[in-house]
Amino acid sequence: MKKFNVGVIGATGMVGQRFLTLLENHAWFNVTALAASARSAGKSYEEAVGNKWAFETPIPEKFKRMTVLDAEADIDKIQGLVDFVFCAVNMDKAKIQALEEVYAKREIPVVSNNSAHRFTPDVPMIIPEINAEHLQVIDAQRQRLGTKRGFIAVKSNCSLQSYVPLLHPLKKFNIQCAAVCTYQAISGAGKTFETMPEIIDNIIPYIGGEEEKSEREPLKIWGEVKDGKITLADAPVITAQCLRVPVSDGHTAAVFVRFENKPSKEEILQAWSEFKGEPQKLALPSAPEQFLKYFEEDNRPQAKLDRMQGNGMSVTAGRLREDVFFDYKFIGLSHNTLRGAAGGAVLLAELLAAKGYFD
Ligand SMILES: NC(=O)c1ccc[n+]([C@@H]2O[C@H](COP(=O)([O-])OP(=O)(O)OC[C@H]3O[C@@H](n4cnc5c(N)ncnc54)[C@H](OP(=O)(O)O)[C@@H]3O)[C@@H](O)[C@H]2O)c1
Repeated sequence: MKKFNVGVIGATGMVGQRFLTLLENHAWFNVTALAASARSAGKSYEEAVGNKWAFETPIPEKFKRMTVLDAEADIDKIQGLVDFVFCAVNMDKAKIQALEEVYAKREIPVVSNNSAHRFTPDVPMIIPEINAEHLQVIDAQRQRLGTKRGFIAVKSNCSLQSYVPLLHPLKKFNIQCAAVCTYQAISGAGKTFETMPEIIDNIIPYIGGEEEKSEREPLKIWGEVKDGKITLADAPVITAQCLRVPVSDGHTAAVFVRFENKPSKEEILQAWSEFKGEPQKLALPSAPEQFLKYFEEDNRPQAKLDRMQGNGMSVTAGRLREDVFFDYKFIGLSHNTLRGAAGGAVLLAELLAAKGYFD
């Protein structure tokens, strides 16, 4: 595989920092540009991040002295430095939509962590193991944007990565509906225990916009490409409650599911253990060998113990059992800033590279 030069837009943020830890020694991608707001532009990366660096491992040496560029004002410079960009910025939705389209129209493919374009009908929203075939909609998007190379591809919200991957292999039993309650880590809000002391000894029963995303985004992921657009699936219907809990990393989900053709417990476990997606078949660098891992122990998966399964890219499950109102209930867990954010975006970029979308 040819090495691609990549820029990180929003490099100083929580997700941006995670990108850099994942890209430091990446086999296919070489970071050649770091960009953020005008507040950071012109500073060295180390100076711009200051005490916002959120990891125990230090800032990788190779990025410390790189000069941070202005994501908007320095776009000409960035265009000359990169083959594509990752984007994870904290701005209002209309501004993010416009910024990402400017990059795409400059023939710079954008792999985005932001929610702004998730429901643009010709922008694929990808969990690489589940709906890699949605990438074909990029042809129609390029036509709309008038580009040859440029496009936007997005990943879905972090909350649903702890249950949609586990429901997906069970769709063959015709899922009627599912109820989920998510217990979400503070890094999902870009926070640490130092910056969110109010979460210590506490649970906050509201995360703005999260329940809507958790219920609606799966329907796009399970949608179909028709006439250059992704049409949403109309089932299974999902109802969600999302809580913020005092955990640094790792979103847990309590899931209840009802089927038209109720499978046996063994059939569910087999569907999970056998499931492989496109990243496993293509042996992409960030693909976990085993995407879905089930624990037999009653007290697993646990955020602290199990979030790093498969380098933080596997989704784990446990406590599968029958339910009195639904057919089954179980627990799911995924790492929200790895599988759920930067890691999921890096895996998406690897899929795009392997399929020739950056050529
Ligand atoms: N945290 C997660 O687990 C997670 C998961 C999935 C998706 N996301 C999404 O990823 C995005 C970033 O989240 P985050 O947690 O990393 O946020 P964050 O820590 O607040 O970082 C925000 C980044 O955006 C940059 N930025 C702000 N205004 C800008 C502007 N006008 N122009 C260019 N850059 C600007 C900031 O640069 P300065 O440092 O210069 O201000 C910083 O690099 C959000 O859209 C979020 O919803 C986050």
